[in-house]
Amino acid sequence: MRKKIIAGNWKMNKTPTETVTLIEELKPLVQNEKEDVVFCVPAISLAAALEAAKGSNIEIGAQNMHFEENGAYTGEIAPGMLTDIGVNYVIIGHSERREYFAETDRTVNKKVLKAFEHGMTPIICCGESLVQREQGVTIDWVRQQIKIAFLNVKKEQAKEAVIAYEPIWAIGTGKVATSAQAQEVCKAIRECIKEIYDSGTAKEIRIQYGGSVTADSAAELFSQDDIDGGLVGGASLKPDFGRIVNYR
Ligand code: PGA
Repeated sequence: MRKKIIAGNWKMNKTPTETVTLIEELKPLVQNEKEDVVFCVPAISLAAALEAAKGSNIEIGAQNMHFEENGAYTGEIAPGMLTDIGVNYVIIGHSERREYFAETDRTVNKKVLKAFEHGMTPIICCGESLVQREQGVTIDWVRQQIKIAFLNVKKEQAKEAVIAYEPIWAIGTGKVATSAQAQEVCKAIRECIKEIYDSGTAKEIRIQYGGSVTADSAAELFSQDDIDGGLVGGASLKPDFGRIVNYR
């Protein structure tokens, strides 16, 4: 049985001080032994978040990192800097990073490889635009994103990865995918992993749905066969996140 993983993507929200306040508020609401709960906060708040989450079930994750060890990359954060303070999860290739910061499938792959090299769990994002969905190329597109993201990733590493399927048209729009739409693509992703590796790896890898998940839609989405939890943006900043984590 795959353990569900519910992650909050705080995006560019909350100062370090506000982060501590919100974690204190959410801590009792997100208690749940059956699931992994991760808060992906802005880089500047990681240390404060780790401190605030100490002794709770909340894991802290980053929203991005560079794929080099160190060097002349002004403004960037290296993987070893994250692990040094105790960050074990990192979102990679979010569609906002692809759209606004020119991330490509190639850089996503480099970051995924680096995350594993440093013992971090990557939350690898994929998903189609509205035009792609309307053109009927969703599955082809997502399969390509997955195939490139996993280039040279070993089987033992791949099964530890988390994939977040996030249709771009559903992110921050209030237009959640239907559970059938989400399940169809998550199932196709699992089949793709089976083709790249084997059925054992496909069975173990965790696939989240993301895009306008709310406390009202979580239960149906997360109970689909191939959906192992969610990556939650807007609703992760509110007490509602407690209801999402405790959706059953
Ligand atoms: P949303 O964001 O829940 O606000 O749609 C999800 C995400 O971008 O990860």
